[in-house]
Amino acid sequence: MLFDTHAHLNADAFDADRHELIAGLPQTGIHLVMNPGCDLQSSADAIKLAEQYDFIYAAVGSHPDAADLVNEELIETYRNMCLQNPKVKAIGEIGLDYHYEDIPREIQKKAFRMQMELARQMELPVIIHEREAHEDGMSIIEEFPDVTGVFHCYSGSAEMAKALIRRGYYIGFTGVLTFKNARRAVEVASSIPLERIVLETDCPYMSPEPFRGKRNDPGRLFRMAERLAEIRGISVAEVEKITTENGKKLYRL
Ligand code: NI
Repeated sequence: MLFDTHAHLNADAFDADRHELIAGLPQTGIHLVMNPGCDLQSSADAIKLAEQYDFIYAAVGSHPDAADLVNEELIETYRNMCLQNPKVKAIGEIGLDYHYEDIPREIQKKAFRMQMELARQMELPVIIHEREAHEDGMSIIEEFPDVTGVFHCYSGSAEMAKALIRRGYYIGFTGVLTFKNARRAVEVASSIPLERIVLETDCPYMSPEPFRGKRNDPGRLFRMAERLAEIRGISVAEVEKITTENGKKLYRL
């Protein structure tokens, strides 16, 4: 049994075959999926999927790419979505992305803080997207000591991962773990407590080897489980059991 803790099944890439694909997931070992939002529309679409399928849960929030659209009105809309839909289990994905400079850093930081505050008020975990913004990311989460969650598609150091774990966060690994040049992700995955690791596809992106470059879907999460088992020297069954438990604790299912 596997838990895909971060999958965008609402994405356009699944328009042609979404429902067949989802119906087939239990046969691939996937028994739970968290579908985060990236803006208002995808958050609403995530809720629709969660209402249709027992094993899919939703999160609402605006990705740093959409930070310029975050205002008080949108926060109130997200708050109502949380209050009205019991399958909304997190705020996300939210955070900082300094790889592209399309959205000014100050606007990203403001949107991130507003959504961290919403998570604090709603007592929900957060799904954090943080890329090339390690220092600002750490300093903002320190402003919200009551909030925890997951750093998804983790790209920081082992030292930073340990600091996040001390603050109650989980660390999410994608197909990057299976890439030949993934030295850093492997180093982190080998040195932090197994009880703090969750697995995710981030589909339709980030396909693991040997499917790299193709459309990804939750049915490929077994590759991350196999790779983590190899890195930690334990069985795939143990990885499945532990990471699924971790995901349930993270999202309080
Ligand atoms: Ni994502």
